[in-house]
Amino acid sequence: MRVIAIVNQKGGCGKTTTTVNLAGALAADGNRVLVVDMDPQAHATLAMGLEPDDLEMNLYEVLVEPGGASRLDAVIVDVSDKIDLAPSSIVLSALEQKLASERHDARTERLAAALETLPPLYDYVLIDCPPNVGLLTFNALRAASEVIVPLETSFFAIDGVQKLLETISLLSDRIGHELDVRVLPTLYDGRTRYARQTLGDIRELFKELCFDTVIRLNVKLREAAREGIPISRYAPSANGALDYASVAMELAASPPEHRARVATEDRGDAAGAGGPREVIVRFKDPDAGDVRIAGDFNGWVPDRGVRSLIASEGQTRVWTKVLTLEPGTYQYRYVVDGEWREDPTNPQTAPGPTGQPNSILHVP
Ligand SMILES: Nc1ncnc2c1ncn2[C@@H]1O[C@H](COP(=O)(O)OP(=O)(O)OP(=O)(O)O)[C@@H](O)[C@H]1O
Ligand SMILES: [Mg+2]
Repeated sequence: MRVIAIVNQKGGCGKTTTTVNLAGALAADGNRVLVVDMDPQAHATLAMGLEPDDLEMNLYEVLVEPGGASRLDAVIVDVSDKIDLAPSSIVLSALEQKLASERHDARTERLAAALETLPPLYDYVLIDCPPNVGLLTFNALRAASEVIVPLETSFFAIDGVQKLLETISLLSDRIGHELDVRVLPTLYDGRTRYARQTLGDIRELFKELCFDTVIRLNVKLREAAREGIPISRYAPSANGALDYASVAMELAASPPEHRARVATEDRGDAAGAGGPREVIVRFKDPDAGDVRIAGDFNGWVPDRGVRSLIASEGQTRVWTKVLTLEPGTYQYRYVVDGEWREDPTNPQTAPGPTGQPNSILHVP
């Protein structure tokens, strides 16, 4: 069971949208998912088609009442075939006050204790947090081993998120368990140069902490929330559905243990000889905001398994891509602000499946 908290103290950055639609995408891949709505606004509960006032029980009973942990099972509602929900209600906003007299540790481990009482039914637990770092968010972080920070692709959003990452890191020291944190760029409008540049900045700043997937602006996501179903069911071919399916794929491909191992092996490789080699390619463009590379070496998933470094030469930005490849011949293309292009500096090409030229890379 992977427990993932969706956290950002900034309002409206896509926490609830990410929780609900990632749940939909994971369920569509055959996973059993529990959504835990820790926000008194109960937006996730609403977006999953439930009216908080109509429900007899909610997380308040679990988090506030004495011995509430064992009641989680009774509070959980079966929303669809593969998705369950622990619903929220406005009464959760009284949590802070109700638990004021308790020890800090006891107050923050309520959700973790409740999740431990569940049978091993779920592949994923996704926890939607309110837009502040109060007791509810602390409970979520304490229960989680992974964190997704949705980050609106705007300059001011970046400033706030650095402080949030510091808070999370302090917290994981205090609770004595590592939190695997990743940033997910959201509300991305690729038509504006500003958004493209901000996305470039986010990637540069957070590097491998950043998902390869970017959640584009997509009005169908709003409509799906209004209908009370995940976009994977409301409009499965819309960009919003494709983007969250891609996040689900990235998550499945990199459980936290795997990420820790890859990081260690990367370091080992630098000293070793034989086997795969590090190959470096560069792309320059003054107008580009986001440059990724995709090829037959990474299943044509942009930047999967690739380390990126971004630098500036005067007005021109230079993207350096570090690939780890076995000897052989490979085909690749760059994805520049979402548009697929061949490498302008590489004269060697081969026609791809739709006739477009793919660039060729030889690794001796
Ligand atoms: N990629 C997107 N494209 C279009 N609209 C989006 C997208 N992501 C989120 N929205 C819309 O933006 C609004 C805010 O999103 P959401 O509720 O997910 O943010 P939040 O971080 O959970 O907000 P809060 O902090 O209030 O809980 C919602 O109306 C949602 O439908
Ligand atoms: Mg929300």
